[in-house]
Amino acid sequence: MKITFFSTQPYDKISFNECNKDFGFELEYYETHLGPHIVNLVEDTDAVCVFVNDKVNAEVIKVLASKGVKTIALRCAGFNNVDIAAAKENNIAVCRVPAYSPEAVAEHAVAMILTLDRKTHKAYNRVREQNFSLNGLLGFNLHQKTIGVIGTGNIGKAFCKIMLGFGCRILAFDVIANKDMEALGVEFLPLLDVLKQSDVISLHCPLTEQTHHIINDETLAVMKKGVMLINTSRGGLIDTKAVIHALKSRRIGYLGIDVYEQEEKLFFRDLSENIIEDDTIQRLMSFPNVLVTAHQAFFTEEALSQIAEITLTNIQQLCEQKILTNKAAQLA
Ligand code: NAI
Repeated sequence: MKITFFSTQPYDKISFNECNKDFGFELEYYETHLGPHIVNLVEDTDAVCVFVNDKVNAEVIKVLASKGVKTIALRCAGFNNVDIAAAKENNIAVCRVPAYSPEAVAEHAVAMILTLDRKTHKAYNRVREQNFSLNGLLGFNLHQKTIGVIGTGNIGKAFCKIMLGFGCRILAFDVIANKDMEALGVEFLPLLDVLKQSDVISLHCPLTEQTHHIINDETLAVMKKGVMLINTSRGGLIDTKAVIHALKSRRIGYLGIDVYEQEEKLFFRDLSENIIEDDTIQRLMSFPNVLVTAHQAFFTEEALSQIAEITLTNIQQLCEQKILTNKAAQLA
């Protein structure tokens, strides 16, 4: 059985080749994204394995079906880039890795908060140039600050637990309040109340029609002046133009993003010798209080090996019995 991988990086090959010793699939790797431009080249494969920026729309799915592909396996949790209805119509199974290491993403969100707050990125460079001055490095205590969490699924829960350890008050918004989190002291409130009261806001909900641009001019207007906003979920949760405006008006005091609306043209590549055409990300990166990382929140050793193990198990089970033991992994 053959699996064709798209958007493959060297580290993907290492983790999947290692894990595949227990499965024995034939693995074929492509660096390019999957999308309408390349899908016609897919041949003689049973499954395609895709990542966050592959474009698996109805057009692509139709071609995959005509080529005999039976499974689309996402090696990530979010699935906003796959047209699930089109996959069902074309009889293609879709699976994902619903939870591989929620702590990896939650810990990265915390790393972003601490970096923006205590400015360790600036201190690192300063000290190397023998500048031992503290001017401009003033931070604030996280202890007793109010943290707003939007989405308390696997990652949001892991994030809440860490922030409770810092002695923070946690306010959360989710379509379903989580009893375990309430028992730990997390207060569930309507979205606008969470946004109004929080010193730091961290987004952990999926990108859907309801959450697209959940951070926009109106929701930014209710936030505290100088709020810290962290997004490790999906770029489309934030209206980037509105956020730039809020940075200029000082409404947002700190912004940490691991994801970006137009990231598929930039992230996971070395563009250091290129001219970047995207003026919006260039504007974002010009602010001294903005930290951008290139979709690396998931990127830990533990997460990579779990992603490989769960993805190959999903494909094997779909191929053998059409049904997954990990129910949340099956999307179609
Ligand atoms: P999950 O499915 O366990 O939790 C998502 C939570 O969001 C659920 O509790 C759900 O009820 C809630 N939710 C759904 N719609 C909502 C809405 N309209 N408003 C508020 N809450 C809503 O997902 P998990 O594993 O916690 O991941 C969350 C997101 O993190 C993923 O969808 C993905 O986009 C992103 N992610 C980012 C990674 C990175 O490397 N930066 C890696 C892994 C995931």
